[in-house]
Parts: sequence; structure tokens; C-alpha cells
Amino acid sequence: MNVLLLGSGGRENAFAWKLSQSKRLNKLFIAPGNAGTSAYGENIDIAVTNFDAIKHFVVENAIDMVVVGPEDPLVNGIVDYFRVNEELKNITLIGPSKEGARLEGSKDFSKIFMKRHNIPTAEYKTFNKESIQKAYDFLETLKPPYVLKADGLAAGKGVVIPHTIEEARAELKSMLEDAKFGEASNKVVIEEFLQGIELSVFVLTDGSSYKILPAAKDYKRIGEGDTGLNTGGMGAVSPVSFANEDFIKKVEERIVKPTINGLKKDQISYQGFLFIGLMNVAGDPYVIEYNVRMGDPETETVLPRIKSDLLELFDAVGKEQLHGQTLEIDPRTTVTVMLVAGGYPGDYEKGIQIDGIDDVKESIVFHAGTISGEEETVLTNGGRVLAITSYGNSIQEAAEKSFSNAEKINYTGKYYRKDIGKDLIAYKG
Ligand code: AMP
Ligand code: GLY
Repeated sequence: MNVLLLGSGGRENAFAWKLSQSKRLNKLFIAPGNAGTSAYGENIDIAVTNFDAIKHFVVENAIDMVVVGPEDPLVNGIVDYFRVNEELKNITLIGPSKEGARLEGSKDFSKIFMKRHNIPTAEYKTFNKESIQKAYDFLETLKPPYVLKADGLAAGKGVVIPHTIEEARAELKSMLEDAKFGEASNKVVIEEFLQGIELSVFVLTDGSSYKILPAAKDYKRIGEGDTGLNTGGMGAVSPVSFANEDFIKKVEERIVKPTINGLKKDQISYQGFLFIGLMNVAGDPYVIEYNVRMGDPETETVLPRIKSDLLELFDAVGKEQLHGQTLEIDPRTTVTVMLVAGGYPGDYEKGIQIDGIDDVKESIVFHAGTISGEEETVLTNGGRVLAITSYGNSIQEAAEKSFSNAEKINYTGKYYRKDIGKDLIAYKG
């Protein structure tokens, strides 16, 4: 099969790595890709939201399947664009329809969906500029901290958790009246704060049947001990010790099944990944958010634990035959450590030469924000630069391998968290 993979991050490098191992792969193209993806396929200079250019490329190159990495093309309706086009309508797409992508694209939509299908989530109300007075009143009924979420996509920054009512009111005003997140905060979801420990569960679905992939925990803050600013993710661990069989069974019965059935009942076409951000509240799972794609860096942690042929699974998704597939999981632990640019998630430089990638042994290096320079050099090209994934028989063993290999890589400003997985090693339920 000829496959076009859309995206340019560590997630897409992990997809490219995994797909390239499939016997069924003929040609792999990545648009636009990075310096790492070109080891597994051919990078194509097309933006992920340029649907016309994608169409042209797909037709010219006899592409059989398009795997959509990031949410943007999905929220913008790439699947619907393909489905209504005579030349494209039979091509398999891994990713949901525009309506399905609203589970990520609109917090209000996803809360209404969860309520309609009795899926456990925090209590909430949604407000707009006109109802701001009611929003202030609603805040008074809640206990701190307060959870305020911009309805639309806000590059992962749309959730604020103020600790006092004064801060919450000020934040609400800046979101609704001063368009703090632009159009994304035209509506704001205010919800109850859930106390617990977070994890992510990933599901691959063909719209009827599904496979639950290994769970992972990511580390969103820039600083050790979960301090400082939010980032796209500084590392991840799989499996998650507290997500035992019992807990995952609850997730399946209370969340996964009602979500897949709910999509069907609502006639929302959904083939692809569903990423469920969960809070474990005293042993019970609650949905914090849905994403309609795989996580980054969770993909770099989860895919190395999947032994089955990913392309085979994707093909079955397209044919609505996923029930006939088996998912084989590697029992070992994986730990991913993200190396980032100095200054990230604030301002940072690009174009800095990276040395030592070839010295890494016994770990997988996935490129995230990199670009090829002259004479086979690799340069930084983003905030999150490289993801290092290692296997181990314990979190500690895998993490130590990733940390020691992180030391072998050099570029000016290199930073990574040295405590990935540490909380899980200490976690006692
Ligand atoms: P989101 O972008 O929806 O994943 O939210 C960002 C982060 O805010 C999550 O990873 C959680 O740490 C936190 N968060 C979101 N909703 C809640 C909630 N209801 N209770 C506690 N923490 C939350
Ligand atoms: N690592 C979180 C995300 O991909 O949204």
C-alpha cells in the first residue's frame, strides 16, 4: 500500500517508524515530515491543511491511505473533503469526520456529548459574553480551584485553573470580553475541579468495534515536580501502574463503549484514534477531555509497545473489519524523554546544530522539531526537538536508559526533565 502521513512532529516520526516495519507498505510519504521521518519514507513539502495540494499529491501518487497525525486537518474537515470527492472517496483515512473532530474542537460539544451518553465527567456549565453575569454567579457555587476552559482550539493553552475567586472572575472576563484566546474563548466551559491522578487511554476504532491501546501518562509542565508552564508534553510512560486491569475495565464499560456507541447513535462517522484524557478519582475514571488523534509524546511511548502490524490494523479500520484483528502488546515498560530547546515553551531559537544522535544506543530517537541542514547535519526546528524512548523491565530501568542517552546528544540550550516516571515509581494508590 502507498501511504501518506500528515504531520511533522515526534508523533509522526513514531508513526513513520512503525508503518515502515509493515510488510504491506509499498511507499510511505510524509507531509511535511522532519529530519527523522526521511529515514522511513519521503518527505513532501505540503502543509497539512492544504487540502487541494494533498488531493493532487494523493491522485498523482496512487495513495491508498492517508494517516492524519495532528488535529488541525481533522477539525478543518479533511475527511469530509475526501468523502465528497469522486477521485478520493475510496481512500482510507485514519481520522474522524469534521463532526467527530468536534469532540476535540469544541469543549462545549464534548461536554454535551458526554452528558447525553452518560459518560462520567466533571459537572459544568457553558457561558458566553451575554451570560457573563450568570457565569460569575456559577463561580460562587463552586469551591476553588476553578477550572475555566476556552471552548475552541487554543494550542493547548485554553485551560486555566485559578485558585481564588478574584482570579477566576478576572480570567473569565479576559476570556469572554477581551477575547484572550481569540474566537476560541467566545464560549467558556466552567467545570468542577477533579482531584486525582491523570492518565491517557487511546482507542483505535473503525466506527463500530475498537481496540484499546496501552495507556500512558504524560508530563505536561516544563519543570521537574510538575512545576512551571504547560508544554506540549515533556515525556511519557507506559504502562501506567495504577491503570490495572480493573481500572481499564471500568474505562471500557463506562467510557469507551458509551463513547463509540454514542457516536454511532448520533450518526457521527468516526474512524481513527480517540485519545481520552482521564482523571482517576479514588479509583473511578472521569473524562477530562477527548482528543481525536494520538498524543505527542504518548505516541512515541505507546507505538513501541504495539507488536501488531499497524498498517494491517489501519487497513482493517478502513474496511470496518477491526473486530477480526488481534492487538499484541509488548509487556515491557517504555519511557520517553523529550529534549527541548532552551527557552521553550517561551521564545526559543531554531537552526541550532544537533550532535551525537548516532551515539545513542539501545534507545529509539524520534525526531520532533528538527530539519536537515547542509552536509547531513541536523538542526533544531521547534520547541520540542527530540524524543528518546527506551524499553525496560521497570520504569526506572527504562527511564535511566533514556536519561543516559539524552546526555549523549548535544545542542546549545538542550533541556529535559530528569524526573519522568518518578511519581509513578513512588505512587501507592
Ligand atoms: P485539557 O486541555 O482539557 O487537557 O486540560 C489541561 C489540564 O487541566 C489537564 O491536563 C488537567 O491537568 C487540568 N484539568 C482539566 N480539567 C480539569 C478538571 N475538571 N479538574 C482538574 N483538573 C483539570
Ligand atoms: N501530550 C498531550 C497531547 O498530545 O495533547
